[in-house]
Amino acid sequence: MDNIKRLVAENQEYITKLRRHFRMYPEIGGEEYETQQKIATELKALGLEPQMVAGTGVVAEIKGKVPGKTIALRCDIDALPIDDETDHIYRSQNQGRCHACGHDAHMAMALGAAKVLSSLELTGNVRLLFQPSEERFPGGAEAMAKAGVMNGVFAVIGAHVWQPFTSGTIGISFGRTTASPDEFTLTIQGKGGHGSMPHQAIDPILVGAQIVVALKAIVGTSINPLEQAVVSLGAFRAGEVFNIIPDTAVIKGTVRTFEADVRMNVFDKIEQIASGICQAYGASFELVKLLGYPPVINDPGVARLAYEAAGEVLGEQGVFEMDPVMVGEDFSYFAEKAPGAFIFIGVGNSSKGLVYPHHHPRFDIDEAALAPGVEVLVRTISKLLRKK
Ligand code: NI
Repeated sequence: MDNIKRLVAENQEYITKLRRHFRMYPEIGGEEYETQQKIATELKALGLEPQMVAGTGVVAEIKGKVPGKTIALRCDIDALPIDDETDHIYRSQNQGRCHACGHDAHMAMALGAAKVLSSLELTGNVRLLFQPSEERFPGGAEAMAKAGVMNGVFAVIGAHVWQPFTSGTIGISFGRTTASPDEFTLTIQGKGGHGSMPHQAIDPILVGAQIVVALKAIVGTSINPLEQAVVSLGAFRAGEVFNIIPDTAVIKGTVRTFEADVRMNVFDKIEQIASGICQAYGASFELVKLLGYPPVINDPGVARLAYEAAGEVLGEQGVFEMDPVMVGEDFSYFAEKAPGAFIFIGVGNSSKGLVYPHHHPRFDIDEAALAPGVEVLVRTISKLLRKK
């Protein structure tokens, strides 16, 4: 057994205990005060000097014995505003708060990795980035990056536990990894009237219905088939009663893309469609866009080292090249500052009843995935420190 494997094994209980602690005391984005304190306490116990950053974030540096590069490890720390419906003794004690995305596991793994890395003779430094508010737009990563936490960083890695992948496997992509999750609200202004006299009204339901059909055709008609884009609608609201034509209709949706020009193309089309169809019926509209996180594009070189590390820990069959996922991740703000890779650690296990998806009140992880996850992170970091 080599040094890293031995150190991870020795700390397995520490890692599991931390994970259960964080699951018990979840806090949502921007309110991670106790979480921040707990992280700082654990880092101080390792002899590090944690600093508070971007409100409820924490940054700390493990300084190597020999000077060298600085590698950053990013971990998000926030929970979701839902009830924990699992039956564990370590289920959430904070009502209406739950680590239903697995960020409790991220903190446990990052602190576990910090403990192992602190015991190694490193050439170079490891900067630990504990980032608040990943789930809550505009997120904590941008503020941390603005505060300078990426200054002098050679490469950055991050990980998400991933329920769709079986425990004991890790997925890594070599380019497009997560999408930009944009939102829009389209308000159609018609002219209300009596249902018996449609000729005196401008029906926003009719206008909206035609806009819905046209929006759903954008990807099929305006986007290069070799590109990736999603336009999904989550709300269409208009009217109250059977015989009144309402004044307005509201459509809400999300746009997911990987490339800036595709993103702009989709929004241009939404505008054109709304404008053209409204004009045809004498209606008007207002389009409000909310641009989300930039996409995460993995650096192939950094991803390759993570892939090698995962293969060493889990065997060749335990690591695979994954397709991008159309979710959003603000890890992108760090990966914009230095080459980065974001990897997906499988935590699903149907034989243990772990079948609930992320953000479900019964979401839970296979804790057996934590120690191998730590080992992969540590091995990836030591490969990056040695990289020429
Ligand atoms: Ni998450």
